[in-house]
Amino acid sequence: ARVLSRYLDGIMIRTFSQKGIETLAECSSIPIINGLTDEEHPCQVLADLMTIREKKLILEGLKVAYIGDGNNMCNSLIVGCLTIGMHLSIANPIGYKPPQYYTDKGLELAKENNVSFIMTENPEDAVVDADVIITDVWASMGQEDEAKKRQIAFKGYQVNSDLMKLAKADAIVLHCLPAHREEEITEDVIENHLMTHDLPPLDLMIRTSGEQRISNYLLWQLAYAELYFTSVAWPDFKENQLYEAIYDYQKRNRRFGGLTETK
Ligand code: NVA
Repeated sequence: ARVLSRYLDGIMIRTFSQKGIETLAECSSIPIINGLTDEEHPCQVLADLMTIREKKLILEGLKVAYIGDGNNMCNSLIVGCLTIGMHLSIANPIGYKPPQYYTDKGLELAKENNVSFIMTENPEDAVVDADVIITDVWASMGQEDEAKKRQIAFKGYQVNSDLMKLAKADAIVLHCLPAHREEEITEDVIENHLMTHDLPPLDLMIRTSGEQRISNYLLWQLAYAELYFTSVAWPDFKENQLYEAIYDYQKRNRRFGGLTETK
């Protein structure tokens, strides 16, 4: 960590152990971004929040339902959605619920931000009136040997058109991909309701083009991720404060091209 801190301006790491990444962050003097661990997937959730905002124009007050494994996605959604003031319902089978650390954190955040955090085993209950439905694979990376066992445990936790009928009529669906069609999500839900992040927010695209648009996009991801990851104490910030912090990050990182105008 010390050597890499001298060579680099930041590290984004995709690994298995959360403890390992936290130790790396403690020993480094540069930003360490969690690109995925067994316990958390903050960049994906940040990208999902950007996508939701892009499609729905707001975040606060929307209802998100997560169906499936109490895994890294579920844990990061608990932290991300409830921090930002969204209502969250999660439906996980017995034996596959998120660790208590995250559910306790979720209850605390829900209380602080005056939103609901519902944990159930029933996907139908979770999706009622949802604005956004999110799911993930039943067997994550490193769990390939458990795939058969999990297919049995997660039966009934499929995001399909019957489940969609219980959500709001304009509900959108997100999946961190790659999806297993007809397993955790059906073909028709993927084709008709799945949303992906298109482009950076419009205000960042004004007067930018090509390469710079990409660098702005990466910058947003990095800024979000840095804020998300370094805010382990989960300070009380709301969405507009988050954006201010991102612009501030841009100013501090001119060399990424965040403030440079292109002709
Ligand atoms: N839960 C999944 C997320 C993949 C993007 C995994 O860890 O494999």
